[in-house]
Amino acid sequence: MLKIMNLSKSFNKETENEINIFNNFNLEIEKNKCTAIIGPNGCGKSTLLNMIGGSIMADEGKIILNKKDIGSLREEKRAIYIGRVYQDPSMGVSPSLTILENMSLADKKGEKFSLRRLVKKDRIPKYVELLKDLDLGLENKLNTKVKYLSGGQRQSLSLIMAAMKHPDLLLLDEHTAALDPKTSHVVMRKTKELIEKYKITTIMISHNMRDAIEYSDRIIMLDKGQVVLDKHSMEISELELMNIYRDKVAERFVS
Ligand SMILES: Nc1ncnc2c1ncn2[C@@H]1O[C@H](COP(=O)(O)OP(=O)(O)O)[C@@H](O)[C@H]1O
Ligand SMILES: [Mg+2]
Repeated sequence: MLKIMNLSKSFNKETENEINIFNNFNLEIEKNKCTAIIGPNGCGKSTLLNMIGGSIMADEGKIILNKKDIGSLREEKRAIYIGRVYQDPSMGVSPSLTILENMSLADKKGEKFSLRRLVKKDRIPKYVELLKDLDLGLENKLNTKVKYLSGGQRQSLSLIMAAMKHPDLLLLDEHTAALDPKTSHVVMRKTKELIEKYKITTIMISHNMRDAIEYSDRIIMLDKGQVVLDKHSMEISELELMNIYRDKVAERFVS
């Protein structure tokens, strides 16, 4: 489904601040599964997702999505196949536009359109249906500007916008990290419902071991540009995962 081959990436090349994040990195992601990626701060999780999504170009290597090499496509082209939700609740939406306008924009992804004729009335029932699924009452706020929504409401909206066109791949980068624990739980549950309902292949970066186990099918731990753990979520407990994670973080201080 997604095959990452011999990926390499450094930042600040040929300066004294050069850092190598990945060197000949390989990874395969299975179709219709949710794969969680965890790992210490700064180990390259977001960089990996950014290279898949196309906001950062890899230095070398291939990114094959459904047998197509997308590695050299621009981010806007990749967005036809790939949906994204970011950590920052203002990133996946346009705060000064209404819910209806935001959903219309998401609906037109990959098409040419004019902003004046953004909203198609016949699509509104579809948006209402998607919003109702969230159970947050957003279907009654179609004309509310998104800047007036809470972080949890925005992230939930971002999620259905990213999933609306049934992307081949959904990338979630700590999309609940900015939310309070209760809201984070609600958004994670909605995430799971949505990706199961539409069978969306998902890569989810998480800082939360429990979420990683509970909401994914497979867990990958990254450290120093390598996969240091790769297990079915059923095969590992939160405690085991915490211990391995702690050891990896501790090793960083020793080495
Ligand atoms: N655009 C960039 N320019 C320079 N360094 C970067 C850039 N993006 C990320 N980095 C560095 O790359 C490393 C990995 O970052 P990142 O992928 O954001 O880590 P993670 O998401 O695992 O916390 C960090 O040391 C970070 O400072
Ligand atoms: Mg990150």
